[in-house]
Amino acid sequence: MCGIIGYSGPLEAGSILLGGLSQLEYRGYDSAGIAYFDTSSKVHVVKKTGKVARLKETVEVMKASSHCGMGHTRWATHGGVSDENAHPHRAGRVTLIHNGIIENYHSLTQEFHLESQLISQTDSEVAAWVLESFYSGDPKEAIRKLAERMDGAYGFCIMFDDHPGEIYAIRNVSPLVAAYTPSGALIASDLTALIPYTKRYFVVPEQHIVKLTGYKISVFDLDGARVMPEMLEINWNMDAAMKNGFPHFMLKEIHEQPEAMKNTILPRMTKGLPDFTDDGIPDQLFEDCREIHMIACGTAMHAGMVAKALMEPVLRIPVTVSIASEFRYEDPLVDEGTLVIIISQSGETIDTLAALGLAKSYGAKTLAIVNVKGSTIARESDYVLYTHAGPEIAVASTKAYSVQLAALYMISCRMSLVRGKFTREQAEAFLTGLLDAIPAMETMIERQLEEKHLAAHLIQQHDTFFIGRGLDYAFSLEGALKLKEISYIHADAYAAGELKHGTIALISQDVPVIAIATQEHVFAKMISNVREVKARGAFVILLTKEHVQIDEGLADIHIKIPHLDDRFTVFPIAVILQLIAYYASVGKNLDVDQPRNLAKSVTVE
Ligand code: G6P
Repeated sequence: MCGIIGYSGPLEAGSILLGGLSQLEYRGYDSAGIAYFDTSSKVHVVKKTGKVARLKETVEVMKASSHCGMGHTRWATHGGVSDENAHPHRAGRVTLIHNGIIENYHSLTQEFHLESQLISQTDSEVAAWVLESFYSGDPKEAIRKLAERMDGAYGFCIMFDDHPGEIYAIRNVSPLVAAYTPSGALIASDLTALIPYTKRYFVVPEQHIVKLTGYKISVFDLDGARVMPEMLEINWNMDAAMKNGFPHFMLKEIHEQPEAMKNTILPRMTKGLPDFTDDGIPDQLFEDCREIHMIACGTAMHAGMVAKALMEPVLRIPVTVSIASEFRYEDPLVDEGTLVIIISQSGETIDTLAALGLAKSYGAKTLAIVNVKGSTIARESDYVLYTHAGPEIAVASTKAYSVQLAALYMISCRMSLVRGKFTREQAEAFLTGLLDAIPAMETMIERQLEEKHLAAHLIQQHDTFFIGRGLDYAFSLEGALKLKEISYIHADAYAAGELKHGTIALISQDVPVIAIATQEHVFAKMISNVREVKARGAFVILLTKEHVQIDEGLADIHIKIPHLDDRFTVFPIAVILQLIAYYASVGKNLDVDQPRNLAKSVTVE
């Protein structure tokens, strides 16, 4: 949520900041702004509602020259979308940008008598004024005092009028990464902004002060002592963060799924079996637990739902899936016997992070499935299994979902093996089945015909229903979410047998029902449910395996996936559901990659 970039160095700061903001825009896109020191060390602020492109037009007209500045792209939390609420905020000698939420902003406003001074409605401007009131020429000292008074999550970048060429930063929970590169010193909320400049970076340690100048970056603890941060290596390249000829990041990322699956699975295969030795995950973790608790948000939570449906029948232990924002305020039933699996693409979703902390405090063992290396969730879990999807830029998650599933499938396989639920042969066959899903995904990516045709029908309707049973129901949850978030068509997923307990009242002529029927043991039941909606006039889109016989007239559109073991049909089905949502969004001429009101990384509650 909210993108941050700061730069000090020999190059033109304007183009670095604007370029960085474009890379970070998926984090928030309701307004954007930059602040910079001009060549006579004077601070300028330019900020505008709308996207980074709008800010660019204004900045280019100004043709300002600068070698030090910072930029922000906003996802509104406190205060509506307006020029005043856009960052950076000025407060006396202080200029500040912020990602996060300051929870005690109201009491600080009163304590520091800021009511008449504030121009915006943001908590961030309050932080800027509190900092100004502490400032007497020593930036580190003022920042230290600020940190003492802030409750909540923050990543701040700060410029002081009388310290030209310098950017200061501090974080609590909200992410910041930094690097000293041949092009100068850079700090950002996300690696994607650093990729063009460096492969080496560090995660800014929480409650440490970072100082950027044109020739170095220094990190200090709150007592002022120098700290050497741990350097990490980026394993993404610039291509991974570009559209590479695709009209949208989402379509590119859908196409990248087979490769991402291979990258996640193959390095963890030894002699045909899943092997987590290189991840440092011991078998004992899987042997000892009495139950599994998965915690996540959004698409990641839906991956957990699939894993539950997969794991429980074979492992014969309880598998629970919790929404992180609920779990974190519960008195949960987890203890030393629970394996908590935290799933998060970004590794920084605030609710998921808080849930992780709570699970740990109850003594649970924690294993995180995370895509972003070095992210907070990855660092705070007992064990981490990185997915290798590369950067996911489109707000709607696609390839991250597939690789989260791949990781969960591998865990399920290893666990079944070490707990004696699978023989070696069964485990090998399971892994072969997982690998077979990859060409099936490729087939669906290449075809795409029915999805385009279908989208033309969907966009004329207000509602769409997804139905399925068992694993198919778990997949349908994600299909409905994808459609909602990027096409703004109301969509709901139902266990097919449940539809008749109320929701079927909403089925009338031409209402689209996407029925997923890939599970053999409930296939006949599913077909009965399809008949029920068809009898009420629904426009039925049926998804099955190939070679399945269905009565003529049962489905208006029948999409077939290659034959696979029932346990692995989610992979090609996910591609179909993603493409349906994609073409519906394109058909409505919407912003596919940056849908309204959403942000990629949700770092506020
Ligand atoms: C946001 C994103 C979703 C994502 C969810 C959880 O809502 O738009 O695509 O599934 O956050 O994010 P995480 O990074 O924790 O997987």
